[in-house]
Parts: sequence; C-alpha cells; structure tokens
Amino acid sequence: MQGSEKAEEQEGRRKERSRNTESGVKPSTITIDGPAASGKSTVGERLARWLGYLYFDTGVMYRAVTWVALKRGVPIENEEAVTALARSLHIDVVPPTVDDGRQYTVLADGEDVTWAIRTPEVDANVSVVSAYPGVREELVRQQRRIAAGGRIVMVGRDIGTVVLPDADLKIYLDATVEERAHRRWKERRERGERVDYEEVLQRMRRRDQIDSTREVSPLRVPPGAAVIDTTRMSVAEVLERVERLIDECDPPEAPPQRARRDEGG
Ligand code: DC
Repeated sequence: MQGSEKAEEQEGRRKERSRNTESGVKPSTITIDGPAASGKSTVGERLARWLGYLYFDTGVMYRAVTWVALKRGVPIENEEAVTALARSLHIDVVPPTVDDGRQYTVLADGEDVTWAIRTPEVDANVSVVSAYPGVREELVRQQRRIAAGGRIVMVGRDIGTVVLPDADLKIYLDATVEERAHRRWKERRERGERVDYEEVLQRMRRRDQIDSTREVSPLRVPPGAAVIDTTRMSVAEVLERVERLIDECDPPEAPPQRARRDEGG
C-alpha cells in the first residue's frame, strides 16, 4: 500500500474510533488479568466506575471458598471435600453494605466475609484451593453467567484466557515481584499490621509460582491482550493508558444492555 493511502486509512480508522467513543460505543466486556498486586483491582474498580460498568473481582470467589473451608475445618489438602464445598457454597458480591473503605461486600452463605477473606491465613491457602480443577470449573461457570450481560470489567488470573476469551478488550497488568511485594507490605502497614517486607516478598514469590505453574488455567498473558508493566507507573498513568486502549478498541457489534446490575460490587 502507498504511504498516503495507508495514512488515509489510519486517519479514517481514527475518526471511526473517535465517533465510537463520542457516541458511547465502548468495549462491553473488559478483562484484566495479572499477578497479585499488579494493580488489577484498583485499576479495574476505577475503570468500571468511569464507564458505569459492573466491577467484578473473581479472586474473591476463590478466597471465599478458602475462608469457609478453614472456618469449617475442611482440610485444604482434601480436594474432594473442598470441591464439594465450592459447589454448595452460595457466594454473592453486592454493592458495599458498610462504609468502611470496601469496594463491595462479599457474602458466603449470607455471612459478610469481605475482610475475613483478606487475612494472611487465606493468602497462604488460596493458591492451593484455586488449583483444584473442580473448584475452578464451578467458579468459572458462575463467572460466565455474571458476565453474560456485558458492561463489565472482570478481574482475575484466567479471565482473558479461559473465562471470557472473546472479550472486547483484554488487558494484562504486570510489575516486578519486588514492587508488588512492596505494595502489599505498604498496604498492610497502613492497615496497622506489623509486617516484614522479606516475608511478604517470599510469600508473593511462592504464590506467583503456584499460580503460574498449576496445571489448570495457569496465569498467562491472554492472546491479543495489551500488556502494561505498572512497575514505575502511577495509578493515574495506568488508567490513562487503559483509556487510550478503550478509544482505540474496535467496538462490539451491538453493545448489550445489562439486565441486572445487582450481582456485584
Ligand atoms: O487476586 P487475588 O489475590 O485476590 O486472588 C486470590 C487467589 O485466587 C490467587 O491465588 C489466584 C487465584 N485466582 C485464580 O486462580 N483465578 C482467578 N480468576 C482469580 C484468582
């Protein structure tokens, strides 16, 4: 193609995109994957708020199963028992019910587990639970149902690869393990916990290793995903990049309207 024709075509595409953005035609299903503390939940939540979409952090489902197993004394290494628990547990993610800084409220069989699922004990066991194929099968089925209405930002480890491989926009956030451990360490200190950075770093390395080497749906960059290394970026800078990706994204053919907006926080 001649240079000028190419430039014309690019300009045509740019105008088309900008018409799409102005007319409100935006990617309806957006996935954000990446390792722990790569910025997924902060970016996902703000992006969803900006777009007026549902924000759904799938990690809370694996955490809820883990917490309930620990609480009920179900041995974490008993795959069959943990899988049966995942199948029978009713997990709901609803808009915040308490004004204490939470992004949403997580209910496990009706009990508010929003903060309980963030304890170091859950952190230490959730990678094992999320590696069980039966647990994943059940939770992925529920996640697809929640995403079926579109207008959603869904965050996790396998959303662009397995749960919604045909999403309109797929994003993969990354950062060095040292930077991610530092973010977690800072977060926990700000919550008043006494934490040792080296220990947080060791645990982060271990979780990375389990999440990326497990047999079922290991953490991977989804085909066609935009990769953003957030190591030296502020949240505002990451959001700016994501907004640009949205403007450049080919819009879905017909943006579906969400039927229900009460399924997540
Ligand atoms: O994002 P998080 O730290 O809350 O995730 C908790 C755990 O759940 C983590 O070990 C990875 C796992 N997870 C997963 O396997 N698939 C997802 N879609 C989301 C989380």
